Amino acid sequence: MIRIAPSILNADLSCLREQLQQIVDGGADWVHLDVMDGHYVPNLTFGPLMVETVARCVDLPLDVHLMIADPDRSLADYVDAGANTLTVHLETCPHLWRTCDRIRELGAKVGVTLNPATPVQLIEPILPVVDLVLVMSVEPGYGGQKFLPVALGKLDYLRENKRHTGLGFSIQVDGGIDEQTLSPVVHAGAEILVIGSAIFKSKEIAARVREFKTAANALENKQQPLG
Ligand code: DX5
Ligand code: ZN
Repeated sequence: MIRIAPSILNADLSCLREQLQQIVDGGADWVHLDVMDGHYVPNLTFGPLMVETVARCVDLPLDVHLMIADPDRSLADYVDAGANTLTVHLETCPHLWRTCDRIRELGAKVGVTLNPATPVQLIEPILPVVDLVLVMSVEPGYGGQKFLPVALGKLDYLRENKRHTGLGFSIQVDGGIDEQTLSPVVHAGAEILVIGSAIFKSKEIAARVREFKTAANALENKQQPLG
């Protein structure tokens, strides 16, 4: 079952509660929150206060994507604010194993992500201790960018790794997912799809979520061998 995690980066924050209700109505599985610090990435968004606000508005797991320098300093703030999954960039963590242990100790699910230019093999040693691997299919920092096909080979690598090792991590993809890129990412092995502008730029938010979820699961079922 493919899960949809709408990213509120491009939501209309003047009516956030209503927008969140629409993604619930459409069958969203998680809410994806993009935390950016204007330093690790050029854009600046929000911090733990927004995570706490979203937690008060909606009863879905909160999937917090930290695009910040030195994330170790603020892991606890995000878990206290209500993050269910905390995803850190491999590129920002010199002691990634310790960071993952800390996230788990704090009581959240552990996510690790890597930028388009980072080789996927770098993540291999940490796979036994993560719950989720996020493959960035755009450079982090902005919504509405064009999908980078380099992500497809990484998704495929992770799916094959799971098959061979039996590890339980989930495979997530983030950036540039729309009607065109949905099919290639599902075929390559993505299990959780982060979708921002293709959902929130529409007037029919609930319908968009439902369409993506139905289409993704139809594609996934087509891949299952019969019998
Ligand atoms: C980019 C963010 C994404 C972004 C995706 O740095 O991590 O979550 O919101 O937006 P779209 O779907 O518009 O590429
Ligand atoms: Zn994101």
